[in-house]
Amino acid sequence: MSFAIESQTEIYVRGVGGERAVIPFDPRELEAEAGRRLPPAAFAYLAGGAGIEQTMAANRAAFDRWRIVPRMLRDVSQRDPSIELFGRRLLAPILLAPIGVLELAHPEADLAVARAAAAAGVPIVFSNQASIAMETCAAAMDASPRWFQLYWSKSNELVASLVERAERCGCEAIVVTLDTTMLGWRTRDLDHGHLPFLSGLGIAQYTSDPVFARLVDAAMREPATGPRPRVTPAAISALFGMARRHPGSMLSNLRSGRPRAAVRAFVTLYSRPSLTWEDLAFLRERTKLPILLKGILHPEDARRALEYGMDGIVVSNHGGRQVDGAIAALAALPAVVATIGGRIPVLFDSGVRTGADVFKAVALGARAVLIGRPYAFALAVAGTPGVETLLRNLRAEFELTMGLAGCAKAAEIERAMLAAEGDLPCP
Ligand code: FNR
Repeated sequence: MSFAIESQTEIYVRGVGGERAVIPFDPRELEAEAGRRLPPAAFAYLAGGAGIEQTMAANRAAFDRWRIVPRMLRDVSQRDPSIELFGRRLLAPILLAPIGVLELAHPEADLAVARAAAAAGVPIVFSNQASIAMETCAAAMDASPRWFQLYWSKSNELVASLVERAERCGCEAIVVTLDTTMLGWRTRDLDHGHLPFLSGLGIAQYTSDPVFARLVDAAMREPATGPRPRVTPAAISALFGMARRHPGSMLSNLRSGRPRAAVRAFVTLYSRPSLTWEDLAFLRERTKLPILLKGILHPEDARRALEYGMDGIVVSNHGGRQVDGAIAALAALPAVVATIGGRIPVLFDSGVRTGADVFKAVALGARAVLIGRPYAFALAVAGTPGVETLLRNLRAEFELTMGLAGCAKAAEIERAMLAAEGDLPCP
């Protein structure tokens, strides 16, 4: 029996005994359930996008515009949904996207996700804005594949340190996210006046870093400038939270003021909007790992990625969290794929919700896709088992879609298997 049929059978057999899965199967219901369980500001951060969320909606609408046209009588008794990526065989063309500040979803945050990824055999991309340091997560994953996502900060020394740490904890690729040189105008977060980093959330990769520690020492010697919150119960509670989360004892953290200095240093440093193509050489010289650029939407940028010796790209608009009104990521995919012409892998994210979506992205030329918000919602609803279940469900649904569409292998999925909505290709 195949993985998909086994999973499906198990679900129905358990159902006979009255058991139900730990998360809803419909991704829309999964999101709604996470919304019911999480505090409003936390849910807003995870679910929201930029502006009036037109790009977020466009990401989904772009999937709706393509329809799968299944083919018959093609012997799909043996199905192989696996793919090859940077010398690794993956069970399915699925990875976990980097998502920051997962402690908003669950107290075990990245660690819970790392365990689920390892259990499901799905690669995880550790976020630069993780709530738990990469070393801790890597230690919980045995040899299961992991990558590291980098935000290029103002300090090249910090960049080098993060990459070195990623190499040491077994990361197999570096994903440089390019689309977040500044934070997008995120209306839901603005309504809540909520940016988690200011309360010391999602900065664990920094506070566990020796180079960052020196930068914090320097920040402590500088007088604090810029706007400060009013002293209210909420501000005091945020201060205690910061002291509790920061490495070391809460009391000494409160006395030293170091957690606040760390947040100040982070805010000053975290991004470098002046970054250009020429800066990529710095990274290229420092690591032998494959480097992927995340956030590419324009074919000309894809061509440049090749020119500058990059090893892969991720077509993504950050799930519609950055430029509202930006092109749907799926709409950008075909032209990027055509430009790359198979020379390096093109990965894809933004709007992937189902196994059928994975099929469509692969048919349009993506080697693999990154799953974003759905796993944060699964984490919120059911912790590690929730994320593991989600990953197994996606893999099973992808395998079934593939087989039912007439493909015995992921490699057989091609553009000709899709038609624009309302349209069938003429023979
Ligand atoms: C993200 N994303 C993201 N990307 C990244 O490179 N580093 C990060 O730290 C984060 N953090 C993050 C937090 C949250 C709450 C979300 C929803 C997203 C973007 C992520 O990797 C991916 O591109 C999108 O999530 C894909 O869109 P969908 O599938 O979530 O719609």
